[in-house]
Amino acid sequence: MAIPPNNNRNSARDDGPGTWPSHPSSNNRSQAAEPEEDGLSDASSVLTQLGNDEFPRHFTEREGRLFHAHDGSPYPMPVDGGEQTRLDALHHLLYERLDSHFAGPVGDVLAQEPGRHRRVLDLCTGTGRWVMDMASIFPNAKFSGIDIGAIRITCAYRLHTYLFTNSDGTMDFVHARNVSLAVPHYPPMLREATRVLRRGGLFFSGEILRQVTFDPECFQGVPALDAPRADNFYRLINRTLALRGLNNYTDRIAEFVHASGQFGAIRRQNYVIPIGEWSSSPSDRRLGVRCRDILAVFARNLAPMLKDAAHPDEFIGEIIDGFVDDIGSVRGLVAVYQTVLARRC
Ligand SMILES: C[S@@+](CC[C@H](N)C(=O)[O-])C[C@H]1O[C@@H](n2cnc3c(N)ncnc32)[C@H](O)[C@@H]1O
Repeated sequence: MAIPPNNNRNSARDDGPGTWPSHPSSNNRSQAAEPEEDGLSDASSVLTQLGNDEFPRHFTEREGRLFHAHDGSPYPMPVDGGEQTRLDALHHLLYERLDSHFAGPVGDVLAQEPGRHRRVLDLCTGTGRWVMDMASIFPNAKFSGIDIGAIRITCAYRLHTYLFTNSDGTMDFVHARNVSLAVPHYPPMLREATRVLRRGGLFFSGEILRQVTFDPECFQGVPALDAPRADNFYRLINRTLALRGLNNYTDRIAEFVHASGQFGAIRRQNYVIPIGEWSSSPSDRRLGVRCRDILAVFARNLAPMLKDAAHPDEFIGEIIDGFVDDIGSVRGLVAVYQTVLARRC
């Protein structure tokens, strides 16, 4: 993702539109080259930063927050430092919960083969943190990412119209994590992911369900009764997102993958992360505190979307504060990270 000025965590260079880079090279060499379809290119590249003159074209400021300036994008989250910090914190939380940056036989599909680079495509890549961490685990694989970030704008529009630049059957692994606020219609995006995957390649989806859930071993709670303010928050944001065309399909992805008829070995798995400090296990309590804090920032970062939907400030403040109170005080609340892994037939 292009990094707004003053938010640069890697080397800075404006290479103009192109494909998303792979991991930053240690010597700051910057070659944001088109990945070569023969897969033998050794070009590596770095995250790129917008020049100050380009900045206003790609970003707009509302309520003191920065947003993508693309007409027609329903994406509701800001893209500033505060949101990027949340995305990175979530990335690290998910890593701890899964004890890995991936699930399933990724090591097998990315195993080195003489004369050929393995290829990975990350959809809605965000800060690029996952790509960078994965690239250090699989240094021989070539990573590309697609995001609406300005330098990569050509690719971003293609995701919007569900057309990727990659050729048929060139990818070994397509990774789509937390894309549900960016992708209004999943099946067309999945069709493109299917097209670019080689036979035997892997597709991975991971989404945090947008609903109140209790850990039944701790408390058999009823959301509307036992966490009413958190429940209200999710109902309101799901309704408001739907008005932007972003229906809540987060728990239907395995169904879409099945329905495509193009995948086998489809495996859906729920990873449960405690919210708050109620767990008896110290490590889960630590995870729970981080999860609670990330969710609180998520809620606050959605305030501009609620304002766009013409809700009064006072109402928005009450809804968000109520959510934050509930997730900080109700025992047994968990976040559910639902993953779907499938192999291209
Ligand atoms: C919730 S973030 C997830 C980032 C990353 N996948 C992760 O798990 O850390 C969603 C990302 O989708 C990007 N996005 C929004 N609309 C998009 C579009 N039309 N095409 C590509 N990326 C888009 C946003 O810029 C943001 O970085």
